Amino acid sequence: MSESENTNTGFSESWLSLREPADHAARDTALITQLIQWRNRQQDIHITELGAGTGSNLRFLLPKFGHNQHWLLVDYDATLLEHLPRILKPWTDNQKAQLLISDDQLRIEHEAFSAVVEWQVIDLSSDLEKLQSKRIDLLLGSALLDLTSASWLNSLAKLCTKKQCACLFALNYDGRVKWSPELESDKRITQLLNTHQLNDKGFGPALGPRAGMHFANRLEEFGRQVLTLRSDWQISSTALKNSVDLQLAIVDGWAPAAIEQSAPEQTLIRQWQSDRRQYIEKNVSELMVGHLEVLSLP
Ligand SMILES: C[S@@+](CC[C@H](N)C(=O)[O-])C[C@H]1O[C@@H](n2cnc3c(N)ncnc32)[C@H](O)[C@@H]1O
Repeated sequence: MSESENTNTGFSESWLSLREPADHAARDTALITQLIQWRNRQQDIHITELGAGTGSNLRFLLPKFGHNQHWLLVDYDATLLEHLPRILKPWTDNQKAQLLISDDQLRIEHEAFSAVVEWQVIDLSSDLEKLQSKRIDLLLGSALLDLTSASWLNSLAKLCTKKQCACLFALNYDGRVKWSPELESDKRITQLLNTHQLNDKGFGPALGPRAGMHFANRLEEFGRQVLTLRSDWQISSTALKNSVDLQLAIVDGWAPAAIEQSAPEQTLIRQWQSDRRQYIEKNVSELMVGHLEVLSLP
């Protein structure tokens, strides 16, 4: 999901890095296999990633796409993009790949994959049409659509159709949350969170949990074939090393969002936060957060 401890403002590097293992573990493998099969039928490939943040989606997909990749990472947060070389270095080292840095471009070189990576600051809420003139074979986004509005998603679906490109929009929060052990107040907190998700995040009134399906439906109306599959976060200490830290960050992000939504319920919400933190700190807490993945191949 796109909500974080900073629910209204920017997305911190620390939050994006905390969620990355859960994101990567959640991605649907059948859907990625289809995307790779499509990619293998292309020669060189131009990939544009919207709301790229620190490049998590690049780290997930780039090693799977072989050679001749050209990535353009787009975000409106210039600081996140500026830090890409520093953020990518430990990852390329770990992959035993070379990272060649120049002023406005990176090259990633490995026996099995290679890519040129560029980035551009664009406010997608107002300047989506700046992408019209670019070569795009594959359009990507991850944890982005639930921030956006119906009219913006219509424009995005139009763009994909006009450019006849493949697109994969991953990790769109779909409103399902399941905690274990359960608390009576869980349901109410999820309701408040899902209403909070509808607040304007700069793109007009957000569709929040309905965004992924709305986008899929618009693509279908434009005659595109679409595949939707679930990619839920399964956060437990057996599945993820950083389960405790991630769950604590989530609880500490959701509680203020819920209070913002319904201040009179502050006492109930703070009690929920405290009870949940106790379960998490005892390492007995597990959390599922529902996501929808949307793939459309030309
Ligand atoms: C939840 S984060 C996801 C980041 C990354 N895709 C990932 O999966 O880790 C949402 C990203 O969208 C970016 N974003 C939000 N509003 C935007 C806008 N109007 N234009 C461009 N990027 C935006 C944020 O800066 C942030 O990097």
